[in-house]
Amino acid sequence: MARFLQLTDLHVVAAGARASGVLDTRAILRTAVERLIDRRAALGHLDAVLVTGDVSDDGTAESYRFARGQLDRLGLPLLAIPGNHDDRAEFRKAFADSPAMPSSGLIDWTTEIGDTVVIGLDTLVEGQGGGALRPESLAFLSEALARAGSRPVVVAVHHPPLRTGIRFMDAIGLEDIPALQATLAQAGGEIIVVAGHVHGVFQGRIGRHPVATAPAVSSAFALDLRPDAPVGFMTGPTGCAVFDTGPDGVWAAVPLEIASGPFPFQEIPMTVR
Ligand SMILES: [Fe+2]
Repeated sequence: MARFLQLTDLHVVAAGARASGVLDTRAILRTAVERLIDRRAALGHLDAVLVTGDVSDDGTAESYRFARGQLDRLGLPLLAIPGNHDDRAEFRKAFADSPAMPSSGLIDWTTEIGDTVVIGLDTLVEGQGGGALRPESLAFLSEALARAGSRPVVVAVHHPPLRTGIRFMDAIGLEDIPALQATLAQAGGEIIVVAGHVHGVFQGRIGRHPVATAPAVSSAFALDLRPDAPVGFMTGPTGCAVFDTGPDGVWAAVPLEIASGPFPFQEIPMTVR
């Protein structure tokens, strides 16, 4: 078993800027990290932080420096893949010390955390919001799955292989999901596919394997299936995810907003039981 904290869609901007002119994502990330540090004991043992893309909103070196400074405060190994907002070269520099980060080309990597094989795949296509897995990434995945054998596997991608029903996000989803499905079908063991991009919790399947998207650190997209649904983001609910691998693995969303409580349960009188 291995246990991960997944952070996604931080959308950090340069100093003084706001994401989409609204969100102070530097302050949002700083607060999120402080809340997670406060809750470390409550969240249980964690082996690594898995960052599933859109670390930066603007691709600036400064945004990555800030993000990295905050993420380092968690004191855990960092594993990271880029999203559509990321700049691949700056991203690579920011996470150069991450296990198995390739020195050039696509940011596809594999590493082992405990008994679990973690495979990160790069779906970033410069100049567009939608994502794709190139043939070389699928070949990389295929080889990594063959080496993993029957061990538990986490496959991390920014763009999830599912459709949410949120039209403006489905329009910039992952291309050619069947090709990923065919590659995953070769696997011998348990796989969980984890992703971000859709700024909310969605659970589905690709073939026999579960897919889960974590809430975003920065903002949320409302589930609104109406044809005339407004296009845009909400300031929350924001969050992240904690999951563990193996046959008893559980995936949990962790809200980053503060609610009041816990309040003790009230004793229910015998007469109304
Ligand atoms: Fe995002």
